[in-house]
Amino acid sequence: MYTSQIDNDFAQSIKKGLGSSSQKRVDSKYFYDTEGSVLFEEICRQPEYYPWRVEASLIRQRSKKIIGMFDDNFALIELGSGSSIKTKILLQDLTLAQQRVYYFPIDVSKEILYRATRELGSEFPNLRVAGIPSEYVEGVNRANKLISSNPQIPNRKLIIFFGSSIGNFEPKDSISFLQQIGSKMDKNDMLVVGMDLQKDRFILEEAYNDSMGFTAKFNLNLLTRINRELDGNFNNHHFVHHAFYNSELKRIEMHLLSTQEQQVYVGRLGESFGFQRGETIHTENSYKYSLEDIKGIAEKCHFTLKTTFIDKKNWFSLAVFSPV
Ligand code: AVI
Repeated sequence: MYTSQIDNDFAQSIKKGLGSSSQKRVDSKYFYDTEGSVLFEEICRQPEYYPWRVEASLIRQRSKKIIGMFDDNFALIELGSGSSIKTKILLQDLTLAQQRVYYFPIDVSKEILYRATRELGSEFPNLRVAGIPSEYVEGVNRANKLISSNPQIPNRKLIIFFGSSIGNFEPKDSISFLQQIGSKMDKNDMLVVGMDLQKDRFILEEAYNDSMGFTAKFNLNLLTRINRELDGNFNNHHFVHHAFYNSELKRIEMHLLSTQEQQVYVGRLGESFGFQRGETIHTENSYKYSLEDIKGIAEKCHFTLKTTFIDKKNWFSLAVFSPV
């Protein structure tokens, strides 16, 4: 039932996105099937993809500071935990600082979530992990219920949202999302968000055009997914990965560009979609922020911006918010 609902969402979204008479689009959330998730992990290992390693080293440098911002024990909730690799850095310090640590990773991908929870449980003996397979806002609701139903779990919460995934939301959606998260927080709780900063376009564009071609494969995998799940007949050789920095809108845009005029049939939709040579499917935006933008976001979300941890090159930030 759940799977067919997802399939159906995917089909509807593709029908709408490819059927558009203006810019064709596919929502970037559909990148992450099994193959897409593996490719994303590869992207994170590429030297050009600085967000992963810069954020990881910021967490390493600042984790004690982040923990020290609380004067008492707290429960840890993570949005989009994936395999929790970066969180381990924080957990290493946290499991030393607190006798017992309660961690609620939230992710839509059950498999990755449960594998990570098992591994973490055996790696840190004083860690109690309850993985929540869910969308983020609903996941925080569920974590809150678990926290309030067990008097042993500290009431205060640190919510972390690493990975600069906030940048994949459209600006107005990122505000309403953070407002929703804020509405599930108490005054003494904190939210740490990894946010990628604006920088030289060359560095940005290299990060999304790695020389090994993993980002290209990741992008093109969307067509493979449409072929497999919706019985499409996309020929991946007739599209190329195209990623560039849109300096007006301060975002990396990813597209799949049709190298020839072509018709593609998607069986499950019973529809053909025509492409002009050079026409694109817009597959992702990745917004890059200025420090002013981060302050503006805090204001719009009724957060106090407690601090912003930034690396030496000013490439990446960990913004720490708490409800006003
Ligand atoms: C998941 N997200 C933050 C990545 C990004 O940088 O926007 C997704 C990605 N797309 C291409 N490379 C990485």
